[in-house]
Amino acid sequence: MAPPALEGSATAGAPDGRSTPCRIAVLASGRGSNLQALLDAIAGGRLHATVCGVFSDRTDAPALARARAAGIPATALSPRAFADRAAFDAALFERVDASRPDLIVCAGYMRLLGADVVAPRSARMINVHPSLLPAFKGLHTHRQALAAGVTEHGASIHFVTADLDGGPVAAQAVVPVHAGDDEAMLAARVLVREHPLLVATVELLASGRLALECDGIVYDGARLQAPLQLPANNRFA
Ligand code: GAR
Repeated sequence: MAPPALEGSATAGAPDGRSTPCRIAVLASGRGSNLQALLDAIAGGRLHATVCGVFSDRTDAPALARARAAGIPATALSPRAFADRAAFDAALFERVDASRPDLIVCAGYMRLLGADVVAPRSARMINVHPSLLPAFKGLHTHRQALAAGVTEHGASIHFVTADLDGGPVAAQAVVPVHAGDDEAMLAARVLVREHPLLVATVELLASGRLALECDGIVYDGARLQAPLQLPANNRFA
């Protein structure tokens, strides 16, 4: 018998999971290149989804302009306008919920989220992190990787829990670290793989092939033993 699902799931409502595009809310603090990758994949017919809103903790985030250019509602709230983290999170997620997302994607959202807003949404909230988790959590991941002398680095997509960068990892893309790499070179190499990793993982979630359940991540009906690895053709089997 299938384990009971956690509260909510990323799959859109239709029985075959396909006829209704998955509604995605994107949280972003900065540049928004991951948001753009999602928008481009949707526009190109490679992702059966729609971005229902973009939300930021920075009123000057370029991601907001990308959203508006695509005709998507963009909302920014300044944390300084709120008494504390919990009040800010509550206000932000009131707006996120109002956009009726099936899936919430943290794509370069750089502000810690409290357990109050994360816990009820873990099964339908993912984060893009620029390292091969569990290695190099937190900030400056490329600097951390170079300092550690690893030969492989990359990006991860994980379900969001109250444990910073510690939620179950669904998928990863690996890149080599070359002798002579600096932080910028390594960051650029990771970003090139991060975008298709996000698109391919969101497609799996939107179609219901990938889900977080009570006893872990399930992929095509079987418990995932290790994160999916993005193939060179950028498509999961
Ligand atoms: C991405 O590299 C993403 O992995 C990282 O921020 C960048 C945002 O780029 N996220 C984190 O470090 C979260 N801990 P973007 O704004 O161009 O998508």
